[in-house]
Amino acid sequence: MIEEQRMKMIMDHYENPRNFGPLESPTVTLRGGNPNCGDTLNIYIRTAEGGIIEDISFDGEGCTISQAAASLLTEFLKGKTVEQLRELDSDYLRELLGKDIMVTRPKCSRLALETLKSWARNFERGKTA
Ligand code: FES
Repeated sequence: MIEEQRMKMIMDHYENPRNFGPLESPTVTLRGGNPNCGDTLNIYIRTAEGGIIEDISFDGEGCTISQAAASLLTEFLKGKTVEQLRELDSDYLRELLGKDIMVTRPKCSRLALETLKSWARNFERGKTA
């Protein structure tokens, strides 16, 4: 993806976030945040049998990168399994956000992914929250 297209895509996800707002009856609500800047992120997930992420959404207050990354991840993860989430690494984000952003804004880029992966590890150990 060329950089100009990438920046347009990131801005679009920030200005028109996908899957924004709480779910009606989430299985779990995850709270993430970056203490260095005070940005916050809530992720709502409804799981179905077999560890399927039936629905996922988010809200919060944060910078362009953290919010766009959350929007992109919710789009990707809807319908996937918790196992697929657990296996997701930052290569996927690097592909979407670009190497420069991942290097210069590591905490912003990874906030949503790290919040999700921490839950996914617990989910596999039998905890849902
Ligand atoms: Fe706070 Fe990006 S500046 S998460």
